Amino acid sequence: MRYSPIGKELFIANRKRLVAQLKKGSVAIFNSNDIMPSNADGTLGFKQNSDLFYLTGIEQEESMLVVFPAFPDKKFREVLLLREPNELLEKWEGHKLTKQEAKDISGVETVVWLPDFKKLFHHMMVMGGAEFVYLNTNEHYRSDIVVETRDARFINWCKATYPLHKFERVAPLMSTLRREKQKKEIELLQRACDITELGFRRVLNFTKPGVTEYEIEAEYVHEFIRNGSKGFAYAPIIASGANAIILHYTENSQVCKEGDLILLDVAAEYANYNADLTRTIPVNGKFTKRQKEVYNSVLKIQREAAKMLRPSVVYFDYHKEVEKLMQSELLKLKLIDKTDIRNQKPENPVFKKYFYHGTGHMLGLDVHDVGNMHEKVQVGSVWTIEPGIYIKEEGFGVRLENNYVIEKSRNVDLMKNIPVDVEEIEELMNEQ
Ligand code: GLY
Ligand code: MN
Repeated sequence: MRYSPIGKELFIANRKRLVAQLKKGSVAIFNSNDIMPSNADGTLGFKQNSDLFYLTGIEQEESMLVVFPAFPDKKFREVLLLREPNELLEKWEGHKLTKQEAKDISGVETVVWLPDFKKLFHHMMVMGGAEFVYLNTNEHYRSDIVVETRDARFINWCKATYPLHKFERVAPLMSTLRREKQKKEIELLQRACDITELGFRRVLNFTKPGVTEYEIEAEYVHEFIRNGSKGFAYAPIIASGANAIILHYTENSQVCKEGDLILLDVAAEYANYNADLTRTIPVNGKFTKRQKEVYNSVLKIQREAAKMLRPSVVYFDYHKEVEKLMQSELLKLKLIDKTDIRNQKPENPVFKKYFYHGTGHMLGLDVHDVGNMHEKVQVGSVWTIEPGIYIKEEGFGVRLENNYVIEKSRNVDLMKNIPVDVEEIEELMNEQ
């Protein structure tokens, strides 16, 4: 792996926290993700299932974790199941984890080869006292995934084989656990943010009229990978001029023009933890008066919002408050007027023409991380704060985004070192 070992203590503690949530007489099973096909015999890069990683630190495909806290034989209360390494696999795909290596990474004492799973599991299910069977599903509120996951296939098999057991959803438990970041996780997120900063500073130095958006993309990824990241935390959005109006513009194919702004929603992953940064900079290193006005309105909202997202609030109420700030900034920018506000319908407020997305999301092993957004903001959760103003008729958009740890007494900005003030951006872009 490219990152320094995380240490098994985090994963041991995470499993302990899970066990505390399970009903008496429970077994919980977690599966890795599949390696997704592309075309012919091609595959996409492997991405581990975030829950399995959270509980084990194992990044290998075809892995499983079984947690059965009350199983009579202590040795089998936690079991990791892995592909058995062999010479041919080694020759084609490289090294696969040995039992000792998997144990060292995860802290799971018992590692079993995958072909032995069914016999062991049958014993657990019929003789071990398993009454409740916790199975995993992707319950992210925005997920509309249509592929059948390994977990989904396992659910089908498990329910068909053991129809009279009681099945439970483990996803809500995982969502609650993962929402509250542990100290080590914050360190990893900070590292992802620091690598992101290096990429952004490199791009400040590189950007000028005539470069293409994809050349900027290349600068970022070069810096990310040379610093131990696997690469982008999500598909990078490098949107010059009017491309910034498209929230998820990822084509990154255009030439950056003199006088345009460029919106950069680009960040690194590190050890599977994700940063999520947005900056908007002038292609030629100098904001116009109008660009600066809009920019400073967004920055003002971003900073105000960072004071408002505190443990006493629910995200959706906070978002409404941010919308009010947005309305008053849009008035100042003369993008809307008092008549517009008087005439607006509650279901279609006038600010929506210029600000048409949420103010943020939780962040962690997933970029849009799990965690119930209807509950009060949790101490220990990590959030993005990312307002934006997009002006189609003027051909540009501005979004600014930092990542915050919600602590009891304050919010900690993991991106406090990343330049954001107009003057600093301009100075850095014009350094010789
Ligand atoms: N960084 C992209 C997003 O938050 O949707
Ligand atoms: Mn974001």
